[in-house]
Amino acid sequence: NFEEQNSILSQFISELRATEIQKDSMRFRRNIERVGEILSYELSKTLDFESKKIQTPLGDKEVSVLQDDLVLCSILRAGFPLHQGLLNYFDNAENAFVSAYRHHPDGKDEFEVIVNYLASPSLNNKILLLADPMLATGKTLENVLEGFKDHGKPKQIHIISVIGSIEGINYVEKVFPENTHLWIATIDNQLNSRGYIVPGLGDAGDLCYG
Ligand code: PRP
Repeated sequence: NFEEQNSILSQFISELRATEIQKDSMRFRRNIERVGEILSYELSKTLDFESKKIQTPLGDKEVSVLQDDLVLCSILRAGFPLHQGLLNYFDNAENAFVSAYRHHPDGKDEFEVIVNYLASPSLNNKILLLADPMLATGKTLENVLEGFKDHGKPKQIHIISVIGSIEGINYVEKVFPENTHLWIATIDNQLNSRGYIVPGLGDAGDLCYG
């Protein structure tokens, strides 16, 4: 929970939560992107780097460059601006896109998650970064993981999210493999009967894209 440290991240999260500021959907999307940039920087400290000799205009220098092969994945819709934040920093990464939405049969509170589109390069020996701003029940991430099962075995998985619930985090830790790391900017305790995070920020997909 990075918000506890009180950095500029706290400002971005407070703007994402505030009903009045959410009306500016461009600011909402850009704040999600900025959170993605900050979490990218934090997680980059856990990646592998290699030394390399480069030439500056005035001489040689031994530098560190990113060694890992990354695949960044949007979980549509709301994952899209978060993915852009990751891509701003990991600009050489490959990219994947997967759609997921909640289907409420007969308008009931219970829902199933439908994944009906997935485009991805092979994940074999690569590092998969899954971008979804909200981790509520964790069912979306579980279904997305299932969708990836024929795309090779990643070396590591990183889940990047703006807001998570304790219940969803516990669920994801149970269903994802051991080599999975969670990067959640802020955590709320409660889920309501429709599986929304409370107080949360509302529906990130609608707030981004109407
Ligand atoms: C929201 C959100 C996550 C998911 C989280 O997406 O963006 O993808 O719900 O909920 P879960 O952890 O309980 O699965 P939604 O299905 O509303 O789609 P959208 O992004 O297109 O709005």
